[in-house]
Amino acid sequence: MIIRREHAADRPEIVALIEAVFPEPVEARLLRELFASREYIPELSLVAESDGGEILGYVISTRGWVGEVPALGLGPIGVLPAYQKQGVGSALMQASIDAANGLGEPVIALLGSTEYYPRFGFLPADSLGIFSPDPSWGSYFMALPLAGFHSGIRGHFKYAEPFNNL
Ligand SMILES: CC(C)(COP(=O)(O)OP(=O)(O)OC[C@H]1O[C@@H](n2cnc3c(N)ncnc32)[C@H](O)[C@@H]1OP(=O)(O)O)[C@@H](O)C(=O)NCCC(=O)NCCS
Repeated sequence: MIIRREHAADRPEIVALIEAVFPEPVEARLLRELFASREYIPELSLVAESDGGEILGYVISTRGWVGEVPALGLGPIGVLPAYQKQGVGSALMQASIDAANGLGEPVIALLGSTEYYPRFGFLPADSLGIFSPDPSWGSYFMALPLAGFHSGIRGHFKYAEPFNNL
């Protein structure tokens, strides 16, 4: 398996993967809108591809903001059900974090499981002074400070525009 950047030709397979992973259609719709959005960042749209050329997993981070400071929002992420719990998601997460560091990004925020994401260093975002777009998300809204993080990065997190249509 390799982790590589998404090509435009991969998109139908990626959307089908997200539809297979998530029972509700909102994530696939969100992803289509993210592909078309100004906040799309090609270096942070990553697929996990098998030796045989099948896309097993996918992750995207898009432009967001902490206050006025550019930051990243991660999601959706998904791994085909038959390939879950075999390390594909972890490989995608690590590649995503490495790519974000390579781009000099300061922080990645996400909404997700408090049992899964802390293993990659994610913390409750409010412990870093980064506040959730929706206070009801509580500790499920997490953030990972990257090499470019500094204590001046504080405030409310804003996702890419398509997240407002959820
Ligand atoms: C979440 C997901 C991307 C993880 O990918 P993966 O390839 O299965 O993950 P890995 O094999 O790298 O890691 C497996 C570990 O994560 C745990 N894990 C996987 N999904 C989890 C979840 N939703 N909540 C909590 N823990 C989870 C597994 O129990 C396992 O734990 P262990 O290492 O202690 O045994 C994948 O399971 C998935 O697509 N799930 C459905 C969609 C989803 O929930 N997306 C995330 C929305 S926040």
